[in-house]
Amino acid sequence: MTGAGGAHKRVAILISGSGSNMVTLADSMTGDHPARPCLVLSNVPTAGGLDKARALGIPTAIVDHHDFKGDRAGFEAALNDALERAHPDIICLAGFMRILTEGFTARWSGRCLNIHPSLLPKYKGLHTHQRAIDAGDEEAGCSVHEVTAELDGGPILGQARVPIEAGDTADSLAARVLVQEHLLYPAVLRRFACEDRTPLFLP
Ligand code: GRF
Repeated sequence: MTGAGGAHKRVAILISGSGSNMVTLADSMTGDHPARPCLVLSNVPTAGGLDKARALGIPTAIVDHHDFKGDRAGFEAALNDALERAHPDIICLAGFMRILTEGFTARWSGRCLNIHPSLLPKYKGLHTHQRAIDAGDEEAGCSVHEVTAELDGGPILGQARVPIEAGDTADSLAARVLVQEHLLYPAVLRRFACEDRTPLFLP
């Protein structure tokens, strides 16, 4: 299925911050890639990724969760309105820092991806790198998974592994993992856009 009238599948990307994953996803959707970015949406009006999206010529939208003061359903209704106006075939969460309810995940079931900075199912939630270091793990990494009602719990579509080195801090490890995120997410999106859900493992 492609977006309204387009030859390509339409990909909406949701961000909350710098949007480095969004940029690598957008940059990857060229040439014979079956998808193109159709929207970059942020819940944070000042997110650095919005300016990057504008510079790339990608339509942007803002749905500020502060406008809904804890009314999660109201926020998600506004989120869905903004998304449906862009007619996405696929939604990529890329540093999107809001927890989504089952109402949202059911609406986009089978069409929503997320990247999480751990080797799921280990370390769901936050502070993943510090937790891996504190546990004495030999490696960390990132995972791309389908978004379901379970936080960071959907089917895994790809993983990249990164060794934890002596003296690593959460920041130094995060920087190395981010490099792998930028390789993994575009590769998984391309497979997903080709209706291929074969999990991808790097290296
Ligand atoms: C990445 O580390 C990602 O794993 C996590 O949030 C960060 C997003 O960074 N979900 P960016 O906004 O894509 O630069």
